[in-house]
Amino acid sequence: MRDDLLPVLACPVCAEPLVRVDGGQVGCATGHRFDEAKQGHLTLLPAKRRALTADTPEMVDARIRFLGRGHYAPVERALAAVVAATEAPGVVLDVGSGPGTYLAHVLDADGPDETASDATAPDGRPDSPPAGAVTARLGVALDLSAVAIRRAARVHPRAGAVVGDVTERLPVVDDAAAVVLDVFAPRNQREYARVLHPAGVLAVVTPRTGHLAELAEATIAVDPEKERRLRDSLEPTFALRSSEDLTWTMDLSAADVHDVVHMGPSHHHVDPGRVFAPTTVTAAVTVSTWTVAGPPTC
Ligand SMILES: C[S@@+](CC[C@H](N)C(=O)[O-])C[C@H]1O[C@@H](n2cnc3c(N)ncnc32)[C@H](O)[C@@H]1O
Ligand SMILES: [Zn+2]
Repeated sequence: MRDDLLPVLACPVCAEPLVRVDGGQVGCATGHRFDEAKQGHLTLLPAKRRALTADTPEMVDARIRFLGRGHYAPVERALAAVVAATEAPGVVLDVGSGPGTYLAHVLDADGPDETASDATAPDGRPDSPPAGAVTARLGVALDLSAVAIRRAARVHPRAGAVVGDVTERLPVVDDAAAVVLDVFAPRNQREYARVLHPAGVLAVVTPRTGHLAELAEATIAVDPEKERRLRDSLEPTFALRSSEDLTWTMDLSAADVHDVVHMGPSHHHVDPGRVFAPTTVTAAVTVSTWTVAGPPTC
């Protein structure tokens, strides 16, 4: 974990900020300690739990292969545009990040590989950026799946990765995020409002009716009430700022079809040995952005 990301992270037991302590461990002022995994991520769960909703290794591998072939590039571009247009200070927090593909993309699109504050002036002092200079943002990937977070830990040099649970208090300090990304992932309006900077933005990607329609028989249908459920999950703490429907077609090989079926919840319902044929498939998603409207209500 990068040392400059530790002040963004909070102890899952007492909510104090985390610091590097003696022996290289990470901990809080109260005395709670967390070991860094060899891949570099931290596990910041409030208590030991079984990750019942977390993605499995097969699902994570299928997701990395499928997204790595660029099939969801329109989503990557839309999220990069949201981050580029956000002036609030803070990190990009990708909740339910999976292997962190979208986080890596928005950080790549955001700027050079290091923050301006990492530069050193000739006299050895930190070289602060000139007023108004844009510095490249840091990112945090958070997911309940340790398998996914192991992959996210190395997804980008400006990103850190945390095993955490979106249904609990997030292990992130107040106002730390300029942007919260939530791509096909569970949501927590109270916690998103707490960790977002007051001028920050929440970007949510949800599937629409018609998403992967040609694979309907092998995938789980999109809930027709999805839009209402999205509003119910974010209002009244958040107010809708923008909503963009993206629709595109994907020419998928047999391997692509296998991966798109196995990277989501349909993985649990499909015969693992089933062979698929190549086909053209529709993608239909909504990218919505939200800002905090008032104090958290739930
Ligand atoms: C459909 S995947 C989306 C992954 C990634 N955002 C993407 O689009 O590539 C949903 C993700 O949510 C994670 N997840 C499920 N329940 C969670 C929870 N309670 N807390 C954090 N992450 C969770 C899963 O492990 C999985 O990685
Ligand atoms: Zn603590």
